[in-house]
Amino acid sequence: MKPLLVYFAVLIACLAIVVAARKSAAAKLCWCWPANQHMVAGPKPQIERNEYLSYGSYDSEPDWNSPERIISLDFNQGQGKRVYYQQCVWCHSDATPAGPSNRSNLTPDPPLMNDGNILNRESDASLRKIISLGGSAVGKSAMMPPYGSTLSEEEINDVIAYIRAIATPEYPNGSTKNTSSGSKPL
Ligand code: HEC
Repeated sequence: MKPLLVYFAVLIACLAIVVAARKSAAAKLCWCWPANQHMVAGPKPQIERNEYLSYGSYDSEPDWNSPERIISLDFNQGQGKRVYYQQCVWCHSDATPAGPSNRSNLTPDPPLMNDGNILNRESDASLRKIISLGGSAVGKSAMMPPYGSTLSEEEINDVIAYIRAIATPEYPNGSTKNTSSGSKPL
């Protein structure tokens, strides 16, 4: 009989200690921390901000073939640069912020986005079409994804303005400006 009593006594003592601990000041500090200090999903990493830092200003881009030549970008071209480095760099450049690109794994190789020999031949309208509808919609490789529901019309025009600005050889029409309205500074 005695051991059983001791057992219950210890059990009750333990429970009492737990209850006391949860009510103590130390426990209170612990449970009352704001949610963002617990192990819960925090705010998403600010990719845009990192990318801004690693790519310097959006108002210029070094010529991809001869980096000592700095191409200055207007506001819309700069917005296009942002879109490019978020969405397109993974397939349309050989190097990306995260290392080598995917370009060599694709068939056919996507043109480098500054390849004027290929892209200067295309009108703005046909670039807009392949970017928003994807490669398969224009009889090209379906590995070129459609961006019509990812990017706004404005962003697509901006990325085209950026493509025109960095083209080598230069885009002849000089119409690198995206004149559509409605864009706001960040
Ligand atoms: C997953 C890889 C991938 C991504 C991401 C990608 N593309 Fe492409 N893109 C391709 C491939 C592959 C082709 C080649 C299609 C062909 O020639 O059959 C292509 C072709 C193109 C062409 C047509 C070039 C020509 O031959 O006239 C344009 C313009 C283009 N991409 C723009 C973009 C833009 C702008 C973005 C970002 C918004 C983008 N691409 C993102 C894979 C990609």
